Amino acid sequence: MARPVTAFVDGRAVGVAPGETLLQAALRQGVEFPHRCRVGACATCRCRLVEGRVRSLTETRYVLEDDELDRGVILACQSVPVGDVRVELEPATTRARRVPAPWRPPAAPADTRRPARPADFLKYSLFHGVGLVAAAALVAGGAWISAGLLAIVAFYVVGDALCGDDTSTPEYARPQALTLQLWLALPLVALVSFAATWSVSPGDPLGFGALVERWTGFDALAAREATTLGHHVSAWLLTGLMIGMVGTIPAHELVHRTWDPVSQAIGRGLLAFSFDTVFAIEHVYGHHRHVATRDDPATAPRGRSVYRHVLLSTLRGNGSAWRIETRRLRRRGHGPLHWRNAVLRGYLASLALVAAAWAMGGAVAAAFFVACGLLGKALLEIVNYMEHYGLARDPRGPVMPRHSWNTNRRLSSWSTFNLTRHSHHHAQGEAPFHELRPLPEAPTMVAGYLTTILLTLVPPLWRRLMAPKLAEWDSNHATADERRLAAEAVEA
Ligand code: FES
Repeated sequence: MARPVTAFVDGRAVGVAPGETLLQAALRQGVEFPHRCRVGACATCRCRLVEGRVRSLTETRYVLEDDELDRGVILACQSVPVGDVRVELEPATTRARRVPAPWRPPAAPADTRRPARPADFLKYSLFHGVGLVAAAALVAGGAWISAGLLAIVAFYVVGDALCGDDTSTPEYARPQALTLQLWLALPLVALVSFAATWSVSPGDPLGFGALVERWTGFDALAAREATTLGHHVSAWLLTGLMIGMVGTIPAHELVHRTWDPVSQAIGRGLLAFSFDTVFAIEHVYGHHRHVATRDDPATAPRGRSVYRHVLLSTLRGNGSAWRIETRRLRRRGHGPLHWRNAVLRGYLASLALVAAAWAMGGAVAAAFFVACGLLGKALLEIVNYMEHYGLARDPRGPVMPRHSWNTNRRLSSWSTFNLTRHSHHHAQGEAPFHELRPLPEAPTMVAGYLTTILLTLVPPLWRRLMAPKLAEWDSNHATADERRLAAEAVEA
C-alpha cells in the first residue's frame, strides 16, 4: 500500500499524500509554488530534481528543452514522487514568484460531500440513453428522425429551464465505474455514426436492415426508402449533435488523463469522428496554457460572431497543434513527418473512418459522414466560444475561475460530465470531472449548454444577452489590467 512521502522544496519539508503531485502537496500546505496551467503546458512550475524519483503524468518534452531535461528539470504539477525527494526551484520559476497568489478551491459544504449513491453514477449515463434514442431514431427513419431530434433538443432546453442546478459533489470511492462510463462513449458514437451512414447508403450494408427486421419485426429498409430529404437533413443535425455531445465531451475528459494510455487512445478515437484529434494536443498544451489571452485560438474576443469563431478557431487550433507536436518531435530528435507525429496519425484515423463510410455506401455515404463530423467539430468550437467569450487574462498570471463562464444547470451538467463546471476545470485543470466544484460565485453563463449553443447562433441576440454579463464581469470579477486587455481585444 502506498505511504505518504516527504518532498524537500528548497529545503522546506512538504508531506505528499499517495498519488499527489508535488504542486498539489505544496499548495495544500501553503507553500508558495509558482504555477499557472496545472496541466503540464506552461512550465511555470518547473523545478530541478536533486534527489529521489518521480513518476511523470505527462510527456514533459512538450514544454521542457533538452538541456533542462539533462539537468533533471521536472514539472511539479505533473510529478508524483516515488519515495522521498529533494527539489530546487529553477531561477526562472523563482522569478515567477511575483505572480498573484494562487487560487485554491474552497472547502465544499459538508452536505455536498456525502458518499456517492447509485444515482450519482447513473446520472452520468443520461447521455448514453440519449445516444441510444438518437441511434434508434436514425434506424426508424422518416419522421422518427425529425421527432427524435426535436425531442432531444426540447429535453435539454426545457429540462435545463425547469430542473434547476445540481451543486452536489459526492465522494466517489470507486471512480473506475465513471471511467468505464466515459469509455462506453466510443462504441456508442460508432453505433450512431454507423446508423447515420447506413441511412443514406444504397442496398443493405452488412445486412443491418435485415438484422433489425429479424430481431424486431420492423422493416427498416422500407422506412429508409420512405425517408424524405427534410428528414435526411434532420439526420445530419442529429448525428452532428451526437458526435459533438456523445463523442467530443467524454473525449475532452479522457485526453486530459495524459498518464493513462487507454483513456488517451479512446479519447483520440472519439475525436477522430469530428476530424479533431488535434484537440488532444491543442486543448491540453495550448488552450489550458493560453486561455483568455490573445494567444488562445479557442477564446473569442468581444464582438466576434460565432460563425467567424468556428472558422478561425478551427484553423488556428490546427496550426497550434502542429507547432506543439513538431516541437515535441524535434526535442526527441525526429522530423515532422515521423510516424510518431500524433497530428498526422489523427488525420489518418479520420480518413480511415471516411474510407469505412465510403465502403459502406459509396461517395454519398462518405460525404454525409464528413458533413456530420464537421458539424460535430463546429459544435465543439461553439462550446469553446460560449465558455470564454469576451474574457481576458494577463498572460503572466495564473488561470482563475473568473476566466471561464460557468453553469450548474442540472441536465447539462449530467450530460457533459461536469464540463459545465468550467471555472473550476480551468483553475485546477488536473481535477477529474467528478471532483469539480460548482463555484456558484463564478461568472455564470446565460443558460444551460444546449440552450446557450442555440442563442449563440443569432449574433445580435447573443450580444444583447452578453452585454450585461460582461459589464458585471468587468465590475465584479476583472482586474484593471484585464478590463484593459478585454477592451483592446474587441473585434468590430
Ligand atoms: S506546467 Fe505546471 S503549472 Fe503549467
